[in-house]
Formats: sequence, structure tokens, C-alpha cells
Amino acid sequence: MKQKEVRFVFDMYDSINALDKADANLLKQARLNTASAYAPYSQFQVGAAALLANGEVVNGSNQENASTPVGLCAERVLLSAISSLFPDTAIQTMAISFNNLKGASDHPISPCGICRQTILEYQIRLKHPIRLILSGMEGAVYVVPDAALLLPMSFTGNDMK
Ligand code: THU
Repeated sequence: MKQKEVRFVFDMYDSINALDKADANLLKQARLNTASAYAPYSQFQVGAAALLANGEVVNGSNQENASTPVGLCAERVLLSAISSLFPDTAIQTMAISFNNLKGASDHPISPCGICRQTILEYQIRLKHPIRLILSGMEGAVYVVPDAALLLPMSFTGNDMK
């Protein structure tokens, strides 16, 4: 019998002020993008912004539906937009923020399970790790160097070859 331990390291900052300019700008954009969320049911507005290898910044936000499972998280809205606008362009960094209209927005959130799987698909397709910048409208910022770290023992297309 053998055992394997999975661990990962990420950076924690006290606030956006500790980030370099490029990361701070992307996080600011994600915070702004919470305003375009359509979240009448949860009142939980999520904004996302991605910096691509070609220098473009693409925006996304969560889009809900009266039929709850139909709703889409900001991350998947963003990834679909990127894939439509710039299909073969690597995604360097994604910033994700949220504005909770019913409570505090002062801590980082990280992508849900479905979004982790979706992000991984794009990393594999584009052969490039995606950095994540995670923060609310204020407070601490987490920077994860590779989104794949959030989904150990993942299922991918390679398993079906
Ligand atoms: N949501 C996101 O857009 N991204 C996340 O990382 C977590 C959750 C959305 C889905 C739903 O519209 C609302 O937040 C509450 O779950």
C-alpha cells in the first residue's frame, strides 16, 4: 500500500493595495462586473474578469433563471464569452469577486465544483494554467497560481482515450 498526499500553496494578501498594478486592475474590473450580474433570486452578484495572452480583458457575471439549475455562474459565463470571442487564446489570469446584497462581501470566494471542472477544461484545451485572483468587494485577496490545484484527482478527456 502506498499513500499520496495532495497539497497546494497559494498567496494571501491583506487587500487589493498589496497587489501589483496588473492584478489590482483585473480585480477592480471583477468588482465592477458584479454590477452586471442578473441575480434577482440569490441577491449574490458575482463578477469575473480575465486577462488573456493577447492582452484583452473579458468580463462576465452570474446570470440566474427562475428555474434555478438553468442559472450560470460568473466563471462559466466568462469562459464561454472568451471561448466565443477569442477561441484559441490562452487565459492568463481570472479575477473573481462578489457583492452579497444580503450580507458582507469582505472575504474571498472560490469557484464552485462545476466551475472548477469547466476552468480545467479550458486550461487543458489551451495548454496554459489559469491563475485565480479571489476577493470580495473589500478585504483579503487570495492568488492561486493554477486553477487545476483546486480540483485534484480530476476527470478529464485523457481518461477517455
Ligand atoms: N456563483 C457564481 O457565479 N460563482 C461562484 O463562484 C459561486 C456562486 C453564483 C451562482 C448563483 O447565481 C449565486 O452565485 C448564488 O449561488
